[in-house]
Amino acid sequence: MTQDELKALVGQAALKYVVPGEIVGVGTGSTVNKFIEALGTMKDRVPGAVSSSNASTERLRALGIRVYDANEVGELAVYIDGADEIDGRGHMVKGGGAALTREKIVAAQSRRFVCIADASKRVEFLGRFPLPVEVIPMATQRIVRQFQALGGHAQVRMKDDQPLVTDNGQHILDVTGLQIRDPLAFESDVNQWPGVVTVGVFAHQKAAVCLLATEGGVQTLE
Ligand code: 5RP
Repeated sequence: MTQDELKALVGQAALKYVVPGEIVGVGTGSTVNKFIEALGTMKDRVPGAVSSSNASTERLRALGIRVYDANEVGELAVYIDGADEIDGRGHMVKGGGAALTREKIVAAQSRRFVCIADASKRVEFLGRFPLPVEVIPMATQRIVRQFQALGGHAQVRMKDDQPLVTDNGQHILDVTGLQIRDPLAFESDVNQWPGVVTVGVFAHQKAAVCLLATEGGVQTLE
């Protein structure tokens, strides 16, 4: 199976976690795009979605799925999103699609995080994938030095020769060279640094369920 087919498989499998009659939290990325396509087939059974990015909002609306502002609704039953890395305890690295801040907000508003990914995302320890960190631009160089002190190498994510600007009007640092052995402590620590909007470690908002697409089918890790 191609990676695209694996993503479609797991996107479809996530439908069984959508609670009929309840608004669903929707993440961002190529795997979630497959889930959104699948959600289109049951759109009459859900009142709508809370979306984690402008890109997902556009796709949801194109399928006729109503998108609610997070402030219009209360707790969500479920949030479905992809990951760049996931460990055996449901801790993740996210933000490859630059949507980590809104992803963390919608995840925090949801009772259950269902992570959908292909098996290549499963790791023993977080840190192989460059860690995305959303930052306030004036703090960039100081935060780069703070990561340097931890042995990391942070680079501003670029798009068309300019720093990429997130949906929130901020920049992204991608940090390599980190070994994140204690994701909870690491997330809490980096979140305290002035100018950090969101660090892409999702340990406090970890996945309750992970659906992993493999050649043999979808594995469920809980
Ligand atoms: C976007 C994310 C994505 O969930 C993550 O990058 C995985 O994306 P994909 O499904 O395209 O591999 O965190 O900010």
